[in-house]
Amino acid sequence: MKLTTPRRAAAAAVIALAGLLASATPAATAAPGAPGSVPAGIPVSALAAPDIPLANVKAHLTQFQSIATANGGSRAHGRPGYLASVNYVKGKLDAAGFVTTVQQFTTGGATGYNLIADWPGGDPGQVLMAGAHLDSVSAGAGISDNASGSAAVLETALAVSRAQLQTTKHLRFAWWGAEELGLVGSRYYVNSLPSAERAKVSAYLNFDMIGSPNPGYFVYDDNVALENVFKTYFATLGVPTEIETEGDGRSDHASFKNVGITVGGLFAGAGRLKSAAQAAKWGGSAGVAFDRCYHRACDNTANINDTALNRNSDAIAHAIWTVGGATARSGLGTGR
Ligand code: TRP
Ligand code: ZN
Repeated sequence: MKLTTPRRAAAAAVIALAGLLASATPAATAAPGAPGSVPAGIPVSALAAPDIPLANVKAHLTQFQSIATANGGSRAHGRPGYLASVNYVKGKLDAAGFVTTVQQFTTGGATGYNLIADWPGGDPGQVLMAGAHLDSVSAGAGISDNASGSAAVLETALAVSRAQLQTTKHLRFAWWGAEELGLVGSRYYVNSLPSAERAKVSAYLNFDMIGSPNPGYFVYDDNVALENVFKTYFATLGVPTEIETEGDGRSDHASFKNVGITVGGLFAGAGRLKSAAQAAKWGGSAGVAFDRCYHRACDNTANINDTALNRNSDAIAHAIWTVGGATARSGLGTGR
């Protein structure tokens, strides 16, 4: 969904922050330019991310719901709905020009799968990763937890392809298996990465539950530069944020953080209750869980707040473009 907030000041504000992570980004000297042009003094990393169409993200949610419905009601590890989810995402990415890899592992007596998608280009020595867990619990379709993050990361990757984006960093997207069994897939991935490859991962951004029906706007505070990229973005929308505290280490970023990789991410809340103060600033219902269908059968396509899903999807794209160091100016779909 298109946003109508001023973007130039926000883009300038994040340059210094993103520069902490994008070491190859040239220094910022913002100069005024004609409306609609890219002023010569602004580094190309200030190239604004495109709007991520909410309708596209929601279409992926509908597909994940259909996959669950056609496969006994869930997309859980070891159930056919999980592998069908992998194949749905992989098909979209392959058609868009990503180099995809399915990594197999075994846990709980069943085969699990991680899906990794590399966008060709960028510095192979500086890899920016973004990911989401693709499995649900066995109780339901897992649309808030975590088709929301899976769909938003997928649509951001597809936006990278539509823009034929060039970035300073190499971009890698990931969908994890067996998160609900204890972060199994993501831990398997980091443990199987040779240490030389692990050292090339500049940062991992995690998106688990970003469309909760009674949403909060929580930003991981594990790394201040990444935290500020998201906080600055939400500030341009006039949306207050809080630090994520509902169980630090309860999602796949912990697998990366545990081996010393810089992490960041967004979260809209799970089973914890929204306070009166939070309802006052964000709307929604005080004394009610951020997601009252968390890990329940009712986590279906009705269990989503569109505004939260839309804002968080756009924030993901913003982070990929700025932290990744977007440098391609040409091509339809890169501009605003
Ligand atoms: N990962 C949890 C799940 O899938 C949800 C969750 C709880 C969470 N606390 C979190 C996700 C903090 C991200 C951050 O059930
Ligand atoms: Zn869960």
